[in-house]
Amino acid sequence: ANIRRYKFNVVMKNITKLCSTKPIVTINGKFPGPTLYAREDDNVIVNLTNNVNYNVTIHWHGVKQLRTGWSDGPAYITQCPVQPGGTFVYNFTLTGQRGTLLWHAHISWLRATVHGAIVILPKRGVPYPFPRPHTEKIIVFGEWWKSDVEAVINQSTQSGLPPNISDAHTINGLTGRSGYTLHVKTGKKYLLRIINAAVNDELFFKIAGHNFTVVEVDASYTKPFNTDTLFLGPGQTTNAILTATHPPGNFLMTISPFMDTVVPVNNATGTALLRYKDTTTTQSLTSSKIPPINATSIALGFSDSLRSLNSPDYPTKVPLKIDHSLFFTIGVGVNPCTTCINGTKTIADINNVSFVMPTVAMLQAHYFNKSEGVFTDDFPGRPLTPFNYTGGLNNLRTKKGTKVYRLEFNSTVQVIIQGTSVIAPESHPTHLHGSNFFVVGKGLGNFDPLEDPKKFNLIDPVERNTVSVPTAGWTAIRFRADNPGVWFFHCHLEVHTSWGLKMAFLVEDGKSSNEKLPPPPSDLPIC
Ligand code: C2O
Repeated sequence: ANIRRYKFNVVMKNITKLCSTKPIVTINGKFPGPTLYAREDDNVIVNLTNNVNYNVTIHWHGVKQLRTGWSDGPAYITQCPVQPGGTFVYNFTLTGQRGTLLWHAHISWLRATVHGAIVILPKRGVPYPFPRPHTEKIIVFGEWWKSDVEAVINQSTQSGLPPNISDAHTINGLTGRSGYTLHVKTGKKYLLRIINAAVNDELFFKIAGHNFTVVEVDASYTKPFNTDTLFLGPGQTTNAILTATHPPGNFLMTISPFMDTVVPVNNATGTALLRYKDTTTTQSLTSSKIPPINATSIALGFSDSLRSLNSPDYPTKVPLKIDHSLFFTIGVGVNPCTTCINGTKTIADINNVSFVMPTVAMLQAHYFNKSEGVFTDDFPGRPLTPFNYTGGLNNLRTKKGTKVYRLEFNSTVQVIIQGTSVIAPESHPTHLHGSNFFVVGKGLGNFDPLEDPKKFNLIDPVERNTVSVPTAGWTAIRFRADNPGVWFFHCHLEVHTSWGLKMAFLVEDGKSSNEKLPPPPSDLPIC
């Protein structure tokens, strides 16, 4: 294995889009930021220097961080932020991982502009379990606000009203007519490494006249399947093979949001171009029908087609015996608020607990036995107030708290994540730090504890780090708690995270020295 060193300089940069210019926070002046390249088992060392007037942290989304929880990055969970003028070295190993992931800022809404790709190639000499592509391309989806993104969320926090929706979607940082162009040659195969780095939107992706073969999601190989539409929640990644089957021509690529609910929707389509070599200027553009914003069947159909590869080289190791069987309701509601415009404030919760960010880092507090006054370990394994999860409006008031759910080292966990309809049901792309999980089941309506488990897939469930819990439905996940630390679990729609749809698991140390979290690095920032 090799050491891969990167320098991440956090700097402001003026960017013009949609005819207006604003300064944004970037890494090394780039939007999207630099791509991190490595191979499986490599050691990655990123030297971060903060040259902006914001506190910053970086999260390596989907990197398991085996015994390197100090480098995971969510602010106040595993580290205090790197303050203006400060530095921090992220140091982790890509143990047993290969594929496409993303990194992003993990404090407030900075990830809107601070994100980039992680490409992990297989070990030298190890082939892909699919035909070798002619070449590989990275495609990053983003969202763009004309106004300052931090102002957008701060305003919303103060007013109690939902934040303004973005003004555009971007593909590789570009919008509209000056968009991104993917150049291809007839007859060749391309591996597209696709990343949804949008802040608040699950997205469909299409290329007119073309199909994709999906081979990997969230850096886990899948059984290949063909589709004309990809579906990615924010934080999710998909590797798909595109075969350039056409003679010269221009084909439209589109990303469009999925939202099958009644709350304010963002229906801005982002576009880019697939252009064949030798296309003449007279050849016109082929476009295709974009999925309607409420195309539930396309979104669910895509997730249903995902199966882990489960081959001799890449076996699927689903926990069969479960130590912790948890039931989490997730949803958005309102609480009274005297200083807010309508007298109420939007709030989101898991099991009726809306998570309050601490002001010091939880992992440090845990490691030095100073968690008192920072967090408690009484996060409920079932909702505090039972109710009909898909019924009418109820349970509008939630409790606040900074609570973790404690897991013994190497214990196995099943979580039924049940979407609720406190305000309106909504799809929630839910993300776990520190481990992948297996998606063993999903369904619409209320989870049925007697019948639904009989239908669980314990043979080849897809392995992911982020899963969409369907609107007014549920998803069942399983994982093994073999990574000591404090691991954030939250909706990856940033607006829901801001409202409190988050919690953390505390995984205890094991007995032997290679089952314990090592001491923190000496440059770990202080709060
Ligand atoms: Cu991609 Cu906790 O985030």
